[in-house]
Amino acid sequence: MVIKTKHSEVIFGSDCWKTLNRCVHANSYSTVFVLTDTNTGLHCLPQANSKIEFDYQTLDMQAGEENKHIQSCVSLWNSLSEMGADRRSLLINIGGGVVTDLGGFVACTFKRGIDFINIPTSLLAMVDASVGGKTGIDLGALKNQVGIIKEPSMVLVDTDFLDTLPDSEYRSGYAEMLKHGLIQEPAYFEALSGFLSKAEILPHIHHSVGVKAKVVSEDIDEQGLRKILNFGHTLGHAVESHFLNATDKTRLLHGEAIAIGMILEAFLSVKALGFPLESADKIKHVFQAIYPKVYFDKDTISEVIKMLMHDKKNENGNVLFVLLKAIGEPVWNQSVSEKHILEAFDFYQA
Ligand code: GLY
Repeated sequence: MVIKTKHSEVIFGSDCWKTLNRCVHANSYSTVFVLTDTNTGLHCLPQANSKIEFDYQTLDMQAGEENKHIQSCVSLWNSLSEMGADRRSLLINIGGGVVTDLGGFVACTFKRGIDFINIPTSLLAMVDASVGGKTGIDLGALKNQVGIIKEPSMVLVDTDFLDTLPDSEYRSGYAEMLKHGLIQEPAYFEALSGFLSKAEILPHIHHSVGVKAKVVSEDIDEQGLRKILNFGHTLGHAVESHFLNATDKTRLLHGEAIAIGMILEAFLSVKALGFPLESADKIKHVFQAIYPKVYFDKDTISEVIKMLMHDKKNENGNVLFVLLKAIGEPVWNQSVSEKHILEAFDFYQA
């Protein structure tokens, strides 16, 4: 099974390895590099090795969002250079969103760009991060502030990797799938709202990639429509960055943070666009049944609001949100008042 995007394709199932082997041989790359992190090097690379039929050299990085930084890129650029990479080299990223975002960025910038392929191993990377060409790194605690949009040559989705995934990471990816329902298909949100197991989710992964692929194919550079993929992410990223920065707080996984963001932005949708309050309540109950509830004191809320100034969708100093008119009907470039943001946190905590 294949889903095409603007300049790339996502290949599903165990046959994807045959396609990879064929592609590497057909392109006569000068050298092939495989990037993993400390987790995927241990848990996923052995599985990949049993399918890969070409020679390659390994690159690695430390696992975790705190390593999605320029220092990791410098180390990888140096390794590529020392190991003789040239413009005809290929980089294959095997990992979750940090590896595919950072590895993609390293590939796009090394010698002004070499080919790269993403092999996502987390649910989040399968349904979101590895598809659509957003590559990049964090700047301090600010998420994805530096990067380039360039699609990988291909994305291989082998769902066997999900067996290696901790439950919390599974839930994190699940939030992006629920988002696909909220922005495009009410029935899909309903179907996922009971929280499906890893065994039940497989056909839905293909569906979610289809939703994402359709949007990015129409607007790869995020001039308009692609912004809908950021529903829940304006406040979600601010919450995630705040918790990443705070030494006295437990970090939130991306999906846990954007689940909070989607509840908050559902409430903002009620205030700004007349989104039905009962739909916002439903969204809150679905997410709070799956994700841990986080307590926000007054200081934390004001720190999160300050973080909004760094959102990548901001224009002319205005913080812009994606809000919902109805489930499946997103509207982008929406401004909201600070009063309503404070009320949204009350709604989340009530
Ligand atoms: N993760 C949102 C996007 O790819 O546009």
